[in-house]
Formats: sequence, C-alpha cells, structure tokens
Amino acid sequence: MLKEVTATRYITALREGGSLPGLVEADDFGTYVMKFTGAGQGRKTLIAEVVSGELARRLGLRVPRLVAIGLDPVLGLGEPDPEVQELLKASGGLNLGMDFLSGALGYDPLAFPAGPEEAGRIVWFDALVGNVDRSWRNPNLLVHRGELWLIDHGATMIWQHHWPGAETSAARPYDASDHALRRFAPDIAGAAAELAPLVTEELLAEVTAEIPDVWLSGEPGFDTPDDLRRAYARPLLARAAVVHERIQGIEGDR
Ligand SMILES: Nc1ncnc2c1ncn2[C@@H]1O[C@H](COP(=O)(O)OP(=O)(O)OP(=O)(O)O)[C@@H](O)[C@H]1O
Ligand SMILES: [Mg+2]
Repeated sequence: MLKEVTATRYITALREGGSLPGLVEADDFGTYVMKFTGAGQGRKTLIAEVVSGELARRLGLRVPRLVAIGLDPVLGLGEPDPEVQELLKASGGLNLGMDFLSGALGYDPLAFPAGPEEAGRIVWFDALVGNVDRSWRNPNLLVHRGELWLIDHGATMIWQHHWPGAETSAARPYDASDHALRRFAPDIAGAAAELAPLVTEELLAEVTAEIPDVWLSGEPGFDTPDDLRRAYARPLLARAAVVHERIQGIEGDR
C-alpha cells in the first residue's frame, strides 16, 4: 500500500489542471500535488494514476513518488474559492498525492529533444496502459533538473470503466500519431525487448498492491479488493507481450 500521510494545509490550486489538482502540505513536511477523490471520475482516476505510475517507475521511467493523503474536509472551510471548497468537502478520506517537483517546467519538444531509446520506452509504456494524454498539445511530461518526468496517468486503462471488455483490450491498437515524443524516432522494438519481459504477474501484483483498499471496495462484480486488483493486472499482462505490434502512427511519414 502507498505510504499514508495527512494533509495539514491547502496551499493553492494548480489552475492548469483540468481536474483542479491542489498543492498541499502534509504532516511529514512534504509538499504534494494532490488529486481528489471528489473530482470528475473520482477514485478510478486515482487508481489509474497509481497503477500506471507505479508500473512506469518499476520499468525504470521517472515518476514523482506517490502517497495516499488523508484529508479532513474541515481543511476546506477556510477556502475562499467555492469550487475548491466543494472539492475538499467532497474528498474526505484518502486521496492521491505526488511529490511536487519544485522548479519543474512543462515539456517542450523543441527545447528538450529526447533520444530514441527514452522516447521508445515512454511510447511503449503509454501504449501498454492506453495513455491518450501524452500528445504534443498536452504532453504531461515535466523537465526537472535536466531529466524527463512522467505525470498525469488518470486517463489510462480506459477498460476499467467497462470490465466485461477489459480482456479483449489486449488487441486494441494504440495511435501514437499525436504523441509528444513521436518526432524522436522512438525505438519501439528495443523498448519492447527490454520492458515486456519485466511485466510479469509478480510485478503487477506488487504494483496493484499499492492501491489503497478503500478505493477498491464496492465495485460491482467484485467480491474483494484483491479480486479487483487482479482485474487491473490481467489486461496489462496480456497486452505487454503484443503491444509493440499494435502501435500505429510512428513509422512512415514522420
Ligand atoms: N509532481 C508535480 N510537480 C510539479 N508540477 C506538477 C506535478 N504534477 C502536476 N504538476 C503541474 O500541474 C499541472 C496539472 O497536473 P496534471 O496534468 O496531473 O492534472 P490534470 O488535472 O490531470 O490535468 P489535465 O487533465 O488538464 O491534463 C501539470 O501540467 C503541471 O504543470
Ligand atoms: Mg495534465
């Protein structure tokens, strides 16, 4: 399970984020970007952040450290912005936090070229989890101390919204034609050879074990949180072996 901390101060809203993520301080003196269970798609978005983020980290990609942040809704009482106040009131209990990368800049492909190996690893990973949120318009990549960091995996694993179709998703193509790193000749074959063998049942069990139980309970069709954890792991395990053949929009007219 993710490390748990408790929010002690709401600092400010990160206005660029569509889901109104906030910057908070916690009782471990850390500063976190916080994503709320009371926002948009709620806890499923946060589960996607955890599974994709913790998987990416174990594949050697840089992802800010994730924690579970306990929130007492009274923290919202002093907020002047009614939208923020509503969000905090609706998000009591455990939410998601990620280390705030102070001084990080939003990724600009013109200013920060990537190598084919790194681009290949990131495109392959995005195809595996079905990430549609890494386009050149909205890369969700940060540059921090001269290195690329991956953020915002809330829209990955779309199959979690329709479990009966999840198993067949292993065959679904991934359109990389808008991908932020497409221009850097991503080495997909190299990435697949290196990363696919790492995506084992054991690794996925370790990854899904990080999801807090409270986000997993009550899902229709699943008796226990661990049943649902296995449902998250299965499509990823099946997809890892074949996904390199399913990536479209990279070869040819670059
Ligand atoms: N760990 C972090 N460190 C520093 N800045 C961050 C971090 N996470 C997010 N940000 C900043 O906050 C913005 C919004 O975060 P994020 O993209 O995760 O939120 P979102 O609501 O899912 O966004 P959207 O749906 O608009 O893409 C990012 O574009 C980035 O500028
Ligand atoms: Mg974003």
